[in-house]
Amino acid sequence: MAHGMFRPRRLREKPLLRTLVRETALAVDDLVYPLFAVHGRGVREPIPSMPGQCRFSVDELVKEVKDAAGMGIPAVLLFGLPEAKDPRGSEAWAEDGIVQQAVRAVKDVVPDLLVATDVCLCQYTSHGHCGVVDGGTVRNDPTLELLARVAVSHAEAGADLVAPSDMMDGRVGAIREALDEASFPDTPILAYSAKYASSFYGPFRDAADSAPQFGDRRSYQMDPANGTEAMREIALDLDEGADIVMVKPALPYLDIISRAKAEFGVPLAAYSVSGEYAMIKAAGRLGWLDEERAMLEALTAIRRAGADIVITYFAREAARLLERHAR
Ligand code: PBG
Repeated sequence: MAHGMFRPRRLREKPLLRTLVRETALAVDDLVYPLFAVHGRGVREPIPSMPGQCRFSVDELVKEVKDAAGMGIPAVLLFGLPEAKDPRGSEAWAEDGIVQQAVRAVKDVVPDLLVATDVCLCQYTSHGHCGVVDGGTVRNDPTLELLARVAVSHAEAGADLVAPSDMMDGRVGAIREALDEASFPDTPILAYSAKYASSFYGPFRDAADSAPQFGDRRSYQMDPANGTEAMREIALDLDEGADIVMVKPALPYLDIISRAKAEFGVPLAAYSVSGEYAMIKAAGRLGWLDEERAMLEALTAIRRAGADIVITYFAREAARLLERHAR
């Protein structure tokens, strides 16, 4: 080899040297832990397609969240399964709805933990779509008012952030206006801005019982083939008042995360969705890959691509490992 040449391996030889020059840090305080709340008491029902995840009744959810907070996880993202579904998804904005109950209970027991709520209708509607259905199509503008109601009801229950995931046009603006009018000008919006019509939501739809009863979500969620359109979606949400924008899913869309960070430089979240979790879990169980290493590699890659915040079902497992590594 030529004299004086750069030898990249010099910095790879010793573990501490590798740590010293590492470009991306994965830390527990970047993680958000998504959870599913159900009605009832003493319920901790495992979700078959998401090993290690459960549906929790509020009393059990509080224990789980307290545990997570104790591990240093700064935030949870709450989803709810209603008692009953109807065409408009009315439990979504009910004062004693499942998410509203869960938020109050969590804020009561762990007030410092950040509680974000998913603002959508699909778990609550009998047809399973994220908006009002009329004449076989999902209607945009009539949905906005309902979403705004959901967001305000979450803020009233004590949510620290509201996270609209429906992908209706104009919903961030409608929610911002409604929050401001209801005296919640300081409640931030974490917008699912570039949310793709993805097959990787499959396990979530089992968990949340939210599969559409007819058709699919391609008339409102994004076409996986589009990248430039994601930048327009993000620009639009920022214009309407989004405080944090999100790309979802994460691993198959690292290029979108990277572009979004470069083009906008705003706080950026990435949602590593149920299917990403299930793939690693399944292959790990089959002995086809090392689950822990695959998990940390995937989460680090999402951070490296540009996500400030990683929403992941691995939050607790990652927190445990990161703590062990830190010692
Ligand atoms: C609701 C919603 C979905 C997810 C988050 N919010 C499902 C969907 O859009 O069908 C998916 C999360 C995951 O897969 O982990 N609109």
